[in-house]
Amino acid sequence: MVSDILVASNRGPVSYALREADGGLEARRGGGGLVSGLSAIGPDAGAVWVCAALGEGDREAVRRGVSEPGVRMLDIDALAGEGTHAAAYNGIANSVLWFVHHMLYQTPLEPVFDAEFRRRWEAYRAYNRAFAEALAAEAAPGAAVLIQDYHLALAPGMLRELRPDLRIGHFSHTPWAPPDYFGMLPDDIARELLNGMLGADRLGFLTRRWAEAFTACCARAVGGTGTTEVGVHGLGADAGFLRARSREADVEERMATLREQIGGADRKTVIRVDRTELSKNIVRGLLAYRELLAGWPEWRERVVHIAFAYPSRQDLEVYRRYTAEVSRLAEEINAEYGTETWTPVLLHVKDDFARSLAAYRLADVALVNPIRDGMNLVAKEVPVVSDEGCALVLSREAGAHEELGADAVTVNPYDVTGTARALHEALSMPPADRADRTKRLAAAATALPPQRWFLDQLEALRGGTAG
Ligand code: G6P
Repeated sequence: MVSDILVASNRGPVSYALREADGGLEARRGGGGLVSGLSAIGPDAGAVWVCAALGEGDREAVRRGVSEPGVRMLDIDALAGEGTHAAAYNGIANSVLWFVHHMLYQTPLEPVFDAEFRRRWEAYRAYNRAFAEALAAEAAPGAAVLIQDYHLALAPGMLRELRPDLRIGHFSHTPWAPPDYFGMLPDDIARELLNGMLGADRLGFLTRRWAEAFTACCARAVGGTGTTEVGVHGLGADAGFLRARSREADVEERMATLREQIGGADRKTVIRVDRTELSKNIVRGLLAYRELLAGWPEWRERVVHIAFAYPSRQDLEVYRRYTAEVSRLAEEINAEYGTETWTPVLLHVKDDFARSLAAYRLADVALVNPIRDGMNLVAKEVPVVSDEGCALVLSREAGAHEELGADAVTVNPYDVTGTARALHEALSMPPADRADRTKRLAAAATALPPQRWFLDQLEALRGGTAG
């Protein structure tokens, strides 16, 4: 297949599960900004999405030649050697690059860039090369290729060498580290990474802050960004989809169940919805909620914290430990403050989108307190679907804060006491004020729908072709 528009990302729009009963494959469509964004050009545009096979079901689909239209899944281990995907994805992308950009290292002990790191870096190169080769094979002359995220930082440069005729874009969905922090990477690796990205014609970031950090890293390590254009494309919530989906029957059912679990009609609700991700700062969020109950005792019995923390990246030990710490702390708060008729924290870990929407609709306060976050779509989705208005407690380190800060209660994510105070303030907000703010938040959150986000990038990338 030869295409004019290609997208590349580690996680694709579909995944396969093996049915135990008959060994058949079941395809599951995923969501997210990129899926909605791509819908702007419709299936007739013939776009091809190149992605990695992530589990055994995916790998089996590739072996059997099963695929969805417009999706080209790569079995990286079959192409580049067993263990390559895990070493590149877990070993480099998630435990090095993610940590650098979110500034997650506990620096007295980590990072350690040793021989093992170098072996993984080889795998990261091989993984990127497999993508570059697949893209080179699928792209029509002069095609536009939109490569996503830190997993694929080297692919633009590799693809440029194979196919100088292509228009190559790369988009970062994460923050970008400031130069002093990025400078922890070994110099040769830092240069290879930046030069790999600069192989693109155009680089996109979610906010000006991340774009400037990238440019500053380039100025320091490779003497500038050369001829590569750097653009900012904020990603907003998909209002039409969210409003319709959140009114469906399964969401209503879950609202009823949540109301039962909350108990007491006049109890207020503080919600959070996250992957159990180190950067999301769930532990400090729980500590802040505990300080709220300790320091403002009037809220005891009168508030419930609904925390949805969906397991993520469980191959990494530090994520497993963090997940356990979240549960432990929730139990501790319930043991300390709970009564026969009141459970202060309701922690749910099973991913359920309909239930997330139900929580968005009934929440009085949403807590979004990441240590660092490229954008954060929860902060944008809540005001869009909220029934009666929801106060937003928002970290100043989330990209979304640039657009939503004016109507949110801003927190420093490290300041637990400050976050407790912000929760109190948000819970005490007069309903009319809360409703007004929610309206303005919803308008800001939907100003750049995913379809616009995608088309803008495509146009900007093609604009450079000069006819
Ligand atoms: C972030 C990244 C994405 C990634 C997602 C989920 O949003 O920017 O590239 O797909 O997290 O992480 P996972 O490791 O489960 O794909």
